[in-house]
Amino acid sequence: YKRITTKTLVDMKKKGEKISMLTAYDFTMAKIVDSAGIDVILVGDSASNVMAGHETTLPITLDQMIYHAASVVRAIERSLVVVDLPFGSYQSDPKEALRSAIRIMKESGGHAVKLEGGKEVKESIKRILNAGIPVMGHLGLTPQSIYKFGTYTVRAKEEEEAEKLIEDAILLEKTGCFAVVLEKVPAKLAQEVAERISIPVIGIGAGNGVDGQVLVTHDMLGMTHEFNPRFLRRYLDLYTEMKNAFSQYSTDVKSGDFPNDSEQY
Ligand code: KIV
Ligand code: NA
Repeated sequence: YKRITTKTLVDMKKKGEKISMLTAYDFTMAKIVDSAGIDVILVGDSASNVMAGHETTLPITLDQMIYHAASVVRAIERSLVVVDLPFGSYQSDPKEALRSAIRIMKESGGHAVKLEGGKEVKESIKRILNAGIPVMGHLGLTPQSIYKFGTYTVRAKEEEEAEKLIEDAILLEKTGCFAVVLEKVPAKLAQEVAERISIPVIGIGAGNGVDGQVLVTHDMLGMTHEFNPRFLRRYLDLYTEMKNAFSQYSTDVKSGDFPNDSEQY
């Protein structure tokens, strides 16, 4: 695929091809992720945690999301760029949701938006779609509702919540979403959802029965240390690698080893 579109992703599901997705919040990282052939780059509101150091995703603003997204878009040649609508930018009413989505599309150049929830946000999704903006859904553990849940543990283990999740996934497909993220739900339930809807289901902590996977890039690179959920596979230990590089640099500066004769003018 030369350039990934929302239609590409739906076609990939039809063919049984898995979809790879990672987060990025800045130009340099996005360039590497895009060049590695990752299908979808998510400018996640996890930037609130990863970039800004907040405890939750709630504080990040629409302006800040647009800054991150615009930086990512400048780096992209192939990946589809999906941008999270942050907390407070779409929950009040559908008009506000549309205004926020339009700002993201106009000011960042992103290709689609993502928002959390099912039935509660149906009218907002419709409104955004009517303006020609593709929407990705997000169900299961939805971090913008963390104060309602109380914990970051696995969602929809009980029958009632599982039923609502299936209903919401079907509703998101009917409303016109091109894909849906399922976060931290039992693998069996996630697989059932993926089988019952024809749009791609991208999982994070949702097992292998779905149509694609997403991870937070800084977590899978091992740059973050304290966050250790079962679903996280670390491909590098960059925390250690980077720390060693920084401390070596410091040693070299202090010893007078850096810069040497060939490193000066
Ligand atoms: O903000 C984010 O990074 C996300 C993914 C974890 C799905 O929403
Ligand atoms: Na998010």
